[in-house]
Amino acid sequence: MTQQTAANDTILIFDTTLRDGEQSPGATLNVEEKLEIARQLSRLGVDICEAGFPIASPGDFEAVRRIAEEVGPLTEGRKDGRPMVIAGLARANEEDIRRAYDAVKVAPRHRIHTFLATSDIHLKHKLRMDREECVEQVIRSISFARTLCDDIEFSTEDAGRSDPDFLVQVLGEAIKAGATTLNIPDTVGYTTPDEYGRLIAYLIANTPGAEKAIWSVHCHNDLGLATANTLAGIQAGARQAEVTLNGIGERAGNTALEEVVMALTTRPQNFNLQTNIDTTQIARTSHMVSTYTGMVIQPNKAIVGANAFAHEAGIHQDGMLKNHQTYEIMRPEAVGLNTSKLVLGKHSGRHAFRVHLREMGYDNLDDTEVVAAFKRFKKIADKKKVVTDADIEAIIADEIYQPPETWRLDHIQVSCGDHSIPTASVVMTGPDGAQYQDAALGSGPVDAVYQAINRIIGVANRLTEFSINAVTEGLDAVAEATIRIQPIEEGDFTVNPQTSKAIYRTFSGHGASTDIVVASARAYLSALNKMLAERDKRPHQLQRITNEPTV
Ligand code: KIV
Ligand code: ZN
Repeated sequence: MTQQTAANDTILIFDTTLRDGEQSPGATLNVEEKLEIARQLSRLGVDICEAGFPIASPGDFEAVRRIAEEVGPLTEGRKDGRPMVIAGLARANEEDIRRAYDAVKVAPRHRIHTFLATSDIHLKHKLRMDREECVEQVIRSISFARTLCDDIEFSTEDAGRSDPDFLVQVLGEAIKAGATTLNIPDTVGYTTPDEYGRLIAYLIANTPGAEKAIWSVHCHNDLGLATANTLAGIQAGARQAEVTLNGIGERAGNTALEEVVMALTTRPQNFNLQTNIDTTQIARTSHMVSTYTGMVIQPNKAIVGANAFAHEAGIHQDGMLKNHQTYEIMRPEAVGLNTSKLVLGKHSGRHAFRVHLREMGYDNLDDTEVVAAFKRFKKIADKKKVVTDADIEAIIADEIYQPPETWRLDHIQVSCGDHSIPTASVVMTGPDGAQYQDAALGSGPVDAVYQAINRIIGVANRLTEFSINAVTEGLDAVAEATIRIQPIEEGDFTVNPQTSKAIYRTFSGHGASTDIVVASARAYLSALNKMLAERDKRPHQLQRITNEPTV
């Protein structure tokens, strides 16, 4: 296996959406979703995919192993024709490192990413070790990791608050022990761009053997400076940037992939650097990550927010019509928006639909999945004149990338209005193939549907987030509902690699329909099905409350 190297004018993109991103509260993904995101990251052109923290739980190990096995070899659509490097995170000890290696080793290109904190605050209060012990542990762990694999990344956790001269010492030893990439995390998002840039320049200039390693930047966004700090680090000589889609991650998140890549692309005069990213895949990847994690993107988010390319003010619209450069620094097409070439409508056949799906990058769907998506497309086309790519993406996320259904929604009927109590009746097919029906009252139509579903399935949960968005403009738009629920009874958990605390699971669900109540019901059921699928892995008896309507 050859390790990752960087041409001096190329920034390697290390995506940690599936590790640091998944650590953000409520972003839990199941294995199928992780695989689908990893496939899309490969199409996007990510150089290194940090697939998870294998020792955290058997589920995390299995997800990383399957990504290594199934996505690790893929090269389709990739600029450099080489597959992604699949990385697994490990604390600096033998057990973690071996577990990470066992998870990633099947990938043709794999990496162990190990880390140890270097700031006095972390050494004293978290690790309870002195600087000398820290250096010894770094040497021991990296030397051990090198006996397994020749692509080793080492991170000095909380480097942003560490003594630069101690960092020089630790990193020099890390290079001697065999680390090939050195990552300098601003773990708590504390630094400012000039400070962080100076730190990177200082470390590269003073660490013995610095030229043998790739220097990497990893910034958190607590002060809203993650992208600025990352770019400052790049200008100071770093050649790998650690990022997540939509900037998701612990607390205020990580550096957003789309912001760094588009800054480098849009301002070549400032950077004169390139990436291997196919920027036209950015919008789709961002949408997929938002859908699966249930983390809605703020409308004014740079590059991928709904308003990022909207021009509301009359004066702006006038300028745009005369010349788009008046108010636009990059074209929406550059990030994969407004690229639909073929307009699909209710007369489009299955063949045209399949061809269009392939053009959109959905080339791994089997016949049954295409038929299912086509049926949904036809239903939407009956209600809407033109079906756009955004509608199709919503259908695919809703219809295909869902867990195997335990419960299926057959019919919903709702009655509501300002003089009546919202009432819903629901018919569903259960895991045993039998049909169940029930009805309930609610504070609104969506609540009434949820109450009716609860009466049938009877699984206690807490709703932590609910949102509904129109995919396209107009009254006939497809609506996408996103929901997050938490089991009331404690579910299984994974471990936060930095704090070693348990992260309890949140399940997100997604539903799309031209009817907002139906979209909401589908979203709720998809979250419930995910929760049930996890429970089924443990001994559990489904409790049905009753099948008698309360109204
Ligand atoms: O922020 C951080 O320090 C990390 C390391 C584990 C790389 O995520
Ligand atoms: Zn981090």
